Amino acid sequence: MAGTIVRVIDETVRLHRSSLTSVTPDKSPARIASMFDAIAGRYDFLNHVLSAGLDTRWRARAVKELALPDNARVIDLCTGTADLAIATAGRRTGIRVVGVDFAGEMLRLGLAKLRTRGLERSIALVRGDATSIPVGGGWADAATIAFGIRNVARPEQALEELARVLKPGGRLAILEFGEPVVPGIRGLYNWYFRAVLPRLGRLVSKHESAYSYLPASVGTFPRPTVFAAAISTAGFLNVRAVPLSLGIVYLYVAERG
Ligand SMILES: C[S@@+](CC[C@H](N)C(=O)[O-])C[C@H]1O[C@@H](n2cnc3c(N)ncnc32)[C@H](O)[C@@H]1O
Repeated sequence: MAGTIVRVIDETVRLHRSSLTSVTPDKSPARIASMFDAIAGRYDFLNHVLSAGLDTRWRARAVKELALPDNARVIDLCTGTADLAIATAGRRTGIRVVGVDFAGEMLRLGLAKLRTRGLERSIALVRGDATSIPVGGGWADAATIAFGIRNVARPEQALEELARVLKPGGRLAILEFGEPVVPGIRGLYNWYFRAVLPRLGRLVSKHESAYSYLPASVGTFPRPTVFAAAISTAGFLNVRAVPLSLGIVYLYVAERG
């Protein structure tokens, strides 16, 4: 297992921040928010179908890595319909989660899920931007982002914000899509991801571009070593990039220095 984990030696990593910021596709907040608002009604369904149910496992693994104590305070950026916030709140007793997202329709559906599960007292959903987190410095014991960071126009700013709101030693877990490491599987997966998934997504969501944007945004997201280095630069230690499901997804885990 150790061989499959990319370890980042904090002191040796120095990267230009500009390498994280891609000019294409368009990641302006207004465009991203309206795109997610438009697909919100089908978002959860498509997530589960297009990932063959694996998305629930990936989120569970991320929450496990946080090793949360009872009564922990957690920030979930790009919370969307709150699936990761819900998985986090159920992990231990007394956990409080603040989920932040700028897409109002995603949050509205997330809030409905909280009400169904009786979780309104454990989870607060706040409309806001990941680059300006609405809590004070050192508020959080842990922080998460699932499949959101690649949409953020300035990811390094979101990482700096996470460093600000986390207590020293607080854990960070970020899930983001990657590319399978095994060549034969990579070819098959890329065909599915770039040819099949956008068509299925368009058919079900009725949105022309959202599910073409998905592979496009993943394609321009930094490689795992580069993104892990950016996490380190933002002030985190013991950064690991752990491939899940053969590298379809990477789980980045780190501790606030
Ligand atoms: C692919 S969804 C992920 C939702 C959820 N975390 C999950 O695991 O299903 C990405 C979410 O990130 C949000 N998002 C993207 N950029 C953001 C930003 N800069 N600030 C706040 N939310 C953002 C979008 O509105 C969308 O709801």
